[in-house]
Order: sequence, then C-alpha cells, then structure tokens
Amino acid sequence: MEKFIRDLPKAELHLHIEGTLEPEMMFELAQRNNIDLPYKSVSEVRDAYNFTDLQSFLDIYYQGSEVLQKEQDFYDLTWAYLEKAASQNVRHTEIFFDPQCHTSRGIAFETVYQGIYQALQDGQTKLGISSNLILSFLRDLSAEEAFATLEQALPYKDTIPAVGLDSAEQGNPPSKFKEVFDRAQAEGFLTVAHAGEEGPPEYIWEAINLLKVSRIDHGVRSMEDPELLDYLVDKQIPLTVCPLSNVELKVFDSMAKHNLKKLLNLGICATVNSDDPSYFGGYIAENYQAAQSALDLTKQELYQLAKNSFQASFLSPESKHKLIAELDDYCRIADLAKA
Ligand code: ADE
Ligand code: ZN
Repeated sequence: MEKFIRDLPKAELHLHIEGTLEPEMMFELAQRNNIDLPYKSVSEVRDAYNFTDLQSFLDIYYQGSEVLQKEQDFYDLTWAYLEKAASQNVRHTEIFFDPQCHTSRGIAFETVYQGIYQALQDGQTKLGISSNLILSFLRDLSAEEAFATLEQALPYKDTIPAVGLDSAEQGNPPSKFKEVFDRAQAEGFLTVAHAGEEGPPEYIWEAINLLKVSRIDHGVRSMEDPELLDYLVDKQIPLTVCPLSNVELKVFDSMAKHNLKKLLNLGICATVNSDDPSYFGGYIAENYQAAQSALDLTKQELYQLAKNSFQASFLSPESKHKLIAELDDYCRIADLAKA
C-alpha cells in the first residue's frame, strides 16, 4: 500500500509554500541572513510544534517565515518542496503563497514572487511537475490591506491564476472580503477560500455565494449541514482536505475520527493534500497513508481521491484528461479495475 500510494500519480491543491519550511532549512536561512532564532536546535524547533488549535500553529508559522528574506531563499524553499513532491509522484501542484506575511516585514512582493515563480518554472522543465500559483490574502488583516496586495499582484496576474483566503478563520468570515474578491474576479482571477476548517458551515456558504469560489479549502465542517452536503455533491464543488493538518490542529480528535471517507462516499469531490507539511508531520503521500490506514481506504477510494485531485485542479481539460489517463494506466498495471 505504501508504494502504491507513493507512486500514485496525483495533484496537490492545498499547500502553503511557507508551510514547507523544514527546521533544517530554517536554521540554514537564519545563519545566511544573520537572524537570531528563539531555538537552539532542530529538535527544539520540532518540540515547539505542539499545537492546540489553528492560532497556536499560525503564531509559529509566521515566526518561522521570518528567515525568508531574499529571492534565493524563496527559490530554495520552493525547490526543496518540488523535489519532495516529485519523489511522491505529484504530477501537478497548486501552491499558496502569503505575500502579506512578507511585505509586512519589508520584503518586496516582487522578491517573494520571483523566487517562487522561478523555482516553479524549473520544476516544470527539470522535474516535469506543472504548477499554478494562488495568492492568498490573510483574513485576520483588513480588506483594505488585501486590496493593496491585489494591486501589487496585478503586473503578474498572467502567472497567478487564482486568489485565496487563509489565516485565522474564526471571526473573519468570507463576507469581509467580498469586494476584494469581486475586484479580483473582474481582473480575471479564479477564487478559492479556506472555510469550514475551524469556522462554521455558514462560512462555506459565504465562500460559495459571495466569493464565488471554484473550490473550498478544508470544508470538513460541511458535515454539520445536510443541505450544504447536497449542494457540494450536486455542483461538484471540490474540497481540498488536509488530514494530518486537521488532526494536528485538533479539528478531529484522531485520524480514525476524520470524515474524509464519509465525504468521499457521499459523492463529494474530496481531495487529499498536505497544507503545511513541515509542521504537520508529512507531505502528500504521508497524508494519503495516514488516512488510508486509519480509515481503511481501499485502492478504489485512493484512485478516486487522486482522480478528484486532477478534476478539481485549474488545469485545462486536455491536461486533466492526460493526467487521468496516466492514473488509469498506473491503476490498471497495479491490478485495480478502472472506476
Ligand atoms: N495558513 C497556513 N496554513 C493554514 C491553515 N491550515 N489554515 C489557515 N491558514 C493557514
Ligand atoms: Zn491551508
């Protein structure tokens, strides 16, 4: 099963590039940029990753990202992620970046963008991984600050297909960003939003009805609203589920209690993703693996999750078709009847 999962052709659709900062690289960049870290060793960093909720994680995540200063730092961070993704047969990835986490520290938007984008270009040519960038607004900051960030992104909009919404969910509903998202859509951006991670199902409805999202990031609390579940199935609005993240941030008490399998079997276009792999104990294959063993996912269900990941992506219909054919071939060879 482990090998089947690792080599399964898949797409990753919910990955914060700042959340791939491994403690080893944190130390390397701190040294390179003359930054004092509040930790003495890599193991001390890992010991600090003991989260009680989303906010307790975000505090450490924002602090960690302060070692990212130069274009080369953003390049190295992204490249390390892409190499890891390639080793787990990620064929396509859609990556969030949080510009406000850096511009608020005096780092230029362009520095952040150029480092990440150059690595993504190299990921395509050297590793064969296609990618899309998603600019994510920090929802605990104001709508005005999100507008200013959108302005900074406009010169690069041809290479940033979508905008998203992340950070502290409770008390920061999607409705706060309706005007920003309207403007982003008028500029040609697609939209996604974190909703129903810690926040209530109403936030998922708002993301759909007000922000006109193409998919919901997390969305696991949709389970509390039968009408919403029906709607997600009917409209095939995908959920980018992140199992290890949900358990680490205590959205579920244990992986055995995760609702991924239920969502999938209701006919929802559920996908598996890693969110912030360096902080939550695993990249995409480890997320599939942890969910598989705790929920007893069959190969057929794993196939469906991988197929959903291509369907839910922002790839062209032709590219989706090609990658799903690759997945079908893989599963046929692995002796699994095609769905
Ligand atoms: N930023 C990085 N990871 C996040 C998550 N899981 N939820 C909200 N904001 C985030
Ligand atoms: Zn996330």
